[in-house]
Amino acid sequence: MTRTATLTFDGRELKLPVVEGTEGELALDISELRARLGLITLDPGFGNTGACTSAITFIDGEKGILRYRGIPIEQLAEHSTFTETAWLLIHGRLPNGTELALFREQLTRHAALHEAFKHHFEGFLVDAPPMAMLSAMINTLSCFPRRWNSSPAETPEDEFYEEAARLISKVRTIAAYSYRRSMGLPFIYPDPKLPYVANFLHMMFSMPYEQHVASPEVVEALNLILLLHADHEQNCSTSTVRVVGSSQANLFASCAAAVGALWGPLHGGANVAVLEMLAKIHHGGLSADQAIKLAKDSKSGFKLMGFGHRVYKNFDPRAIILKRAADRVLAQLGVNDPLLDVARQLEEKALSDPYFVERKLYPNVDFYSGIIMRAIGIPINMFTVIFAIGRMPGWIAQWSEQHADSKARIARPRQVYVGNQISDYVPIGDRK
Ligand code: CMC
Repeated sequence: MTRTATLTFDGRELKLPVVEGTEGELALDISELRARLGLITLDPGFGNTGACTSAITFIDGEKGILRYRGIPIEQLAEHSTFTETAWLLIHGRLPNGTELALFREQLTRHAALHEAFKHHFEGFLVDAPPMAMLSAMINTLSCFPRRWNSSPAETPEDEFYEEAARLISKVRTIAAYSYRRSMGLPFIYPDPKLPYVANFLHMMFSMPYEQHVASPEVVEALNLILLLHADHEQNCSTSTVRVVGSSQANLFASCAAAVGALWGPLHGGANVAVLEMLAKIHHGGLSADQAIKLAKDSKSGFKLMGFGHRVYKNFDPRAIILKRAADRVLAQLGVNDPLLDVARQLEEKALSDPYFVERKLYPNVDFYSGIIMRAIGIPINMFTVIFAIGRMPGWIAQWSEQHADSKARIARPRQVYVGNQISDYVPIGDRK
C-alpha cells in the first residue's frame, strides 16, 4: 500500500504519495501540487528536490556510502579498472570476459580523431583553456558521421553502445590534443597497443621521436582517479546532462554542456582551485594557521578549496581512498614539493578546528585528486579535463537512463516572481 503525507493549505488537504527507494530513501511525489493546491515548491540549489528516479548510483552522504550499480566504491577501487567500471555504469552489470574484450576493442578502434579535427584545434589560440576546447570538440563530434569507424549496428542498443564507446574513447584523445594545442606541441596519434590510461599519457607526453612510457604507479593512480569520478548521481554537471537531454538533444550536445557545468570552481574546477590556493598560500608566505583563520572569516571571501561537500556530511568515501593513494604515490615517486607540504598542514589543522568540525567540512575528492595529479606531473590546466574524462561514463549512463524512462519530461522548473508588478511604458522624453 502506498504511504502518503498530508499537506493542508487554506483549509484544503492534499495527500501526497510517498515514493520509497530500494535503500529506504523517502520522497514526496508533488507532481499534483500545483494543479490541486496552486502551490509550487521553492528549493534553491535543489538540495531537497529529487529530479528523477535512478538505478545507477547510490549515495548515503551521512554514512559516507557510494555505490555504482550496487557495488561499493571501495571494492571497485580495489579490484576494477576505469574501463570495466565504465561498462558497469552504462550496462547496469559487470561485463563478462568477452564483453569487456569487445569494449576494449571498441575503445581502441575509436581512439583516433578524424583529421579534420586538427583544423578545428588550430582555430584556438594556444592559451585557450582546455575545458573550452573539450566542450567545443565534444559538440563537434556530433558533426562527424558515426559510420566513419563504427561497425554496422544490428540494433538501436548496439548503436548506442558503439556511440558510448566512441565518446569515452575520443574524449581522451580530444583532452590530450587540447593540452598539446595549449602547449603549441604537435599532436601525437593514439597507440593501438596501449590500454586506456597509458594511451592517454602517451598522447599527452610523447614527443615525435621519443615515446613517453608512464610508470605503473602513475597509470594506477590515474586509473583510480578516473574510476572514482565515474559517476556521482545528480550533481551539477550530471543534472546538466539530464536537463539538456530532456529536450531530446543528442548525447554529444548533452555531454558538451556538462563540461561547462563541471568547469566551475565549486564543482569540477575545485581541483584546480585547490592548487591555486596552495600556491597563493605558499607564495604569499601565509602559514596554515593564517589560511585557516581567513577561511573562517566569512567577510574575507576566502574558502578552503577542496573542503566541504553538499552531500557528504561526515566523510567523502572517494577522498578516503584517494588519501591513501596520495600517501602511496608520493612515497613511491619520492616527490618533494612545498605545495604538498602546505596541503598536509591545512588538512591537519582543519580536521581539528571546531569551525570545520561543526560544519562537517572535510577534505573532498578534489583535494586529494589535485595533490596526486600534481605529484604525477599532470599540468594544472588539465585537472578538470581529467575529471571530465572520468565522469563521461556516468553522464552517458544517466543520459541513456533518462531516454529509456517513459515518464521523463522536458526539464522546466518554475519560479516565484519577485519583480515589478504591472507598470506602464514611459516614453523616453518623459523619463526622469
Ligand atoms: N571553506 C570555508 N567555509 C566553508 C567551506 C569551505 N570550503 N565550505 C562551506 N563553508 C561554510 C559556509 O561558509 C557555511 O558557513 P555558515 O554556516 O557560517 O554560513 C557552511 O560552511 C555551509 O556551507 P554551504 O556553502 O551552505 O554548503 P553547500 O552545501 O552549499 O556547498 C560546497 C558545498 C562544496 C560548494 C562548499 O563546501 C564549497 O564551496 N567548498 C569548496 C569548493 C569545493 O571544494 N568544491 C568541490 C566539491 S566536491 C566535487 C564535486 O562533487 O563537485
